[in-house]
Order: sequence, then structure tokens, then C-alpha cells
Amino acid sequence: MRVLETIAETRAALDAARRDGKSIGLVPTMGYLHAGHLSLMHRSAAERDVTVVTVFVNPLQFGANEDLASYPRDFERDAAMCDNAGVDIVVHPSVDEMYPAGLPLLTTITVDEISAAMEGASRPTHFAGVATVVAKLFNIAGMCRAYFGEKDWQQLAVIRRMAADLSFPVEVVGCPTVREVDGLAMSSRNAYLAPDERAAAPVLHWALVAGAAAIAAGERDPTRVRALVTELIEAEPLAELDYAEVVDARTLRGVDPLAGEVRLLAATRFGRARLIDNEGATIPAPT
Ligand code: PAJ
Repeated sequence: MRVLETIAETRAALDAARRDGKSIGLVPTMGYLHAGHLSLMHRSAAERDVTVVTVFVNPLQFGANEDLASYPRDFERDAAMCDNAGVDIVVHPSVDEMYPAGLPLLTTITVDEISAAMEGASRPTHFAGVATVVAKLFNIAGMCRAYFGEKDWQQLAVIRRMAADLSFPVEVVGCPTVREVDGLAMSSRNAYLAPDERAAAPVLHWALVAGAAAIAAGERDPTRVRALVTELIEAEPLAELDYAEVVDARTLRGVDPLAGEVRLLAATRFGRARLIDNEGATIPAPT
């Protein structure tokens, strides 16, 4: 496995691989890797000749009052995990390498509408930061398949739409959420949870599962589904709900009555950890 720190070396390595007829899989991450990240690497390693993981804590996607400085980092451990997962290249650039002209950037990418609600409402500059760094990574990697987790459903929708709108030569692949045995979605931010918060946190998943089950049992009123998920999360004293929504899975627009492929999404604070999760439900077309 090679560890590269510059854009030029990364381009050269991937151009050479493509000249040899090799297919490329890209797995963008912010490091502090866990089994959720590993599932993306395994999928890429199974489908592609060369798997490239990027480890870059992107300052652009953190708001002024967010956890950029304290975001967990352990590159030695990350590199060892990548090696074990069959990764060929780890790209670990500095902030100066990624943003050579300094911050703030004068050029950014915004994906309208899909970015506005939910995470976008709570974190107004977040998705422009994500879309911009992912656009840069796509430009650096070139033609490839790129793997993202469904855990960040809104992020996945934003990236899919950006790739389509701007004709990136990148096939965006969504991969299922990997969970702890008690249902909590794996996340680097779970490291912030105190033991009692960790014990309480799975309520986020189970409330969304209960909402999806209500839809499967025939509930078609989005307000009632939202109320059910909200009530279940708010019953947990350590949980501070940010939002609970049920929207069209692709457009993220509201649907009333619920129809087609829908997604339930929620964000909740447990102490200093702000966690997100989502669950899908499909309403069969009337026959
Ligand atoms: P990060 O939070 O490190 O996540 C990197 C990738 O791993 C994302 O595609 C995310 O959805 C996926 N992932 C995280 N937890 C997962 C889980 N439990 N199961 C499956 N996949 C999971 O998301 C980012 O970094 C950044 O915003 C990034 C896209 C790298 C841009 O900076």
C-alpha cells in the first residue's frame, strides 16, 4: 500500500493505473476509520482493480462553532486499517495541499434545494463544504467509481446530484449503513459519547425503525410518522432532538400522502455528540 500526500503524486499514480487498463475505486473519508468505512473499502476492493482511500478532515464543511479542532484523528491507525482492508493507495493531504490559495475559497459548489433542509438547516455551510471537497477529489481521482455510505443519506443525495449536474466521470455508489450490535450507526463522532449517552444513543435508530414500520403497516400521513419518531426520541432524557423528517428518498422533498420510496431522517444530540441516522420505507404503487 502507498501513502501519498500530494495531488500531483495521486494524479500520476491513478493516470498510470488507468493506462494499464485498471479500474479505480475511490473512498473519500475524514479518517478515524471504523467498520462503516471499511465496508466501503471492501466493496471497492471487490469491484475495482485499484482502491484509493482519501483521509482528509475538510475544514470547509465545519461551521464556525463545530468540532473541527476536536474531530478525532489517528492517521497511523487509519493507515494500518486501510492496509488490512486491501487498499492500494491512501491519500493524506494537508490543508495547504488541498487549498493552496488559502481559505475562504472564491470558488465553491452549492447544490440547491437538496442541501437546504435537515442537515442544511442546522449547518448552513456544511453541504457546500462537502460538495466542494468531493468535487476536488473527483477532479483529482479522474474516472472512477466512488463509494459513499447511506448513513449520510442527505450527503449521498447531494453528491449524486452534483455528479449528474456537472458531468463528473464518476459513478456514485451508495452502500448500506453498518451498525453496532445494538443498532447504533457506526460514526467517528460516537467517540464523543459518555457511557450513559452511548447506552441511550440507539434510540435514534429504533425510533426511525418504528416510523418505517408504521409506514409498512399502512400509515400514509407524514405528520403522524414525524410525531411518532419525535415522541420516541424525546422519551429518552439524554436525547435532544434536532429534527425528524420523512421525505422522498431521492429529491428529499416532502410527500403527502406518503408514496413511493421515502426516507425517514433524524438528527439528535447526546451530550456533545450530534448524531444522524436514517431508514427507508417503500410504499407499493396502487394496483
Ligand atoms: P466520514 O464521516 O469520514 O465518512 C466517510 C464515508 O463513510 C461517507 O461516505 C460516510 O457516509 C461513510 N460512513 C460513515 N459511517 C458509516 C456507516 N456506519 N456505515 C456505512 N458508511 C458509513 O462523510 C464524510 O466523511 C465527509 O463528508 C466526506 C464525504 C469524506 C467529505 O469530506
